Amino acid sequence: MDIFRIEGPVRLSGTVNVNGSKNASLPIMAAAILAAGKSVIKSVPYLSDISVFGQLLCQLGCELDRSPNGDLCIDSDVIDNPIGEYDIVRRMRASICILGPVLARYGRVEVSMPGGCAIGDRPVDIHLRGLAELGAKIHLKNGNIVAEAPRGGLKGKDIFMGGPFGSTVLGTANVLMAATLAKGKTVIESAACEPEISDLANCLNKMGAKITGIGSPRLIIEGVKQLQPVEYQVIPDRIEAGTFMVAAAITSGKLHIQNCRLDDMMAVVDRLRNIGVTVEAAEGGCVVTRKGSIKPADITTQPHPGFPTDLQAQFMALLSLAKGNSIVIEKVFPDRFMHIAELNRMAANLRKEGPTVIVAGVKKLIAAPVMASDLRASAALVLAGMVAQGTTVVNRVYHIDRGYERIEERLNLVGAKISRVAEAS
Ligand code: EPZ
Repeated sequence: MDIFRIEGPVRLSGTVNVNGSKNASLPIMAAAILAAGKSVIKSVPYLSDISVFGQLLCQLGCELDRSPNGDLCIDSDVIDNPIGEYDIVRRMRASICILGPVLARYGRVEVSMPGGCAIGDRPVDIHLRGLAELGAKIHLKNGNIVAEAPRGGLKGKDIFMGGPFGSTVLGTANVLMAATLAKGKTVIESAACEPEISDLANCLNKMGAKITGIGSPRLIIEGVKQLQPVEYQVIPDRIEAGTFMVAAAITSGKLHIQNCRLDDMMAVVDRLRNIGVTVEAAEGGCVVTRKGSIKPADITTQPHPGFPTDLQAQFMALLSLAKGNSIVIEKVFPDRFMHIAELNRMAANLRKEGPTVIVAGVKKLIAAPVMASDLRASAALVLAGMVAQGTTVVNRVYHIDRGYERIEERLNLVGAKISRVAEAS
């Protein structure tokens, strides 16, 4: 397993380019299942999560190919094995989003129940409730979810998709994709409003679906008989963009972040400005600068358009150096705090009280060996390592490679000093 050796402190300056969104790419790859034929998806990043999901699509019967310019071609002409094996699902919970499209296309699907992960339980009860509302018969068999459409196919219905933590992103994706081929009209109330869901809906409409209310918590879908293969470019990755914004802020640097849509990131920009970071719109993205001290701020994560849970760990690293105390409340994944113990090893002063963390700002962080645990917590450790005094060693960087492409190369181009060392296995 590779490790990162990170020299600090550094000050980042220059231009970084944001890749296509991992969390838009995954459901859009699944949407290709709905239409027999060759779809081409552009700007799909080269990430381990993407390649694992690609393996799953191949298991279903699809053929995948990357063209030299990076376009991902998915030939879903043949879907002859509607089963998502545990071995893949346990590695990538987002595999659950084949449920809706395979059910709608094939009439039957088996997907391993995703287990828990570092950020907490990953229940799928709302996914299953939504598909059952469309007429699917669902039961559990040896840890697998088995869903079967009625003989006459799925039927549209008014469905409430809210849960104890608000909306569900992939639950909305599953039911939305299934509803495109259901008979009649479906209303999804309390739909996720994440930009990645809007991107999926726009892609589905380009395939011939009839979806309105895109971007709102109420999606209305008129079922159609068939969808067509599509050529589609995914949106930029707002979580990667937000991670770069924090990288500029935590190192009191200046980064021009290209290919980022500030319109999708208003809650993030609001908190950065509250912390004393300058964010200015610039051609194709923004320029992020931090000159003065880091001001303490309160952050509560919520479904979009609220503050994204996927940036909570990164902002906690930033606030650990604030002049004063901050409060971070995690309302989406209340256990998403694997980074606390590791940041405290670097002399941060973080105290967890249930889903709330009191962040007592310290003057500096001190380098230490730390353990990556989940994708975004690992990114927070890299950010902290760039500003800590000394050499920070981050173990298990495969967690980072799941969601950030060659992150050390891209940060080194703007002043970081990160070396990737293949650990003797
Ligand atoms: C998506 O996961 C993202 N993953 C996550 O990003 C992101 O953190 C999450 O949305 C929230 O924004 C992808 O898009 C691939 P949810 P998802 O269903 O859809 C509860 C990353 O770092 N819930 O919106 O699985 C659930 O427990 C990843 O890129 C139910 O109770 O998340 C959680 O508390 C990590 N029942 C809340 O809802 C359900 O049936 C939100 O989860 C489904 C979810």
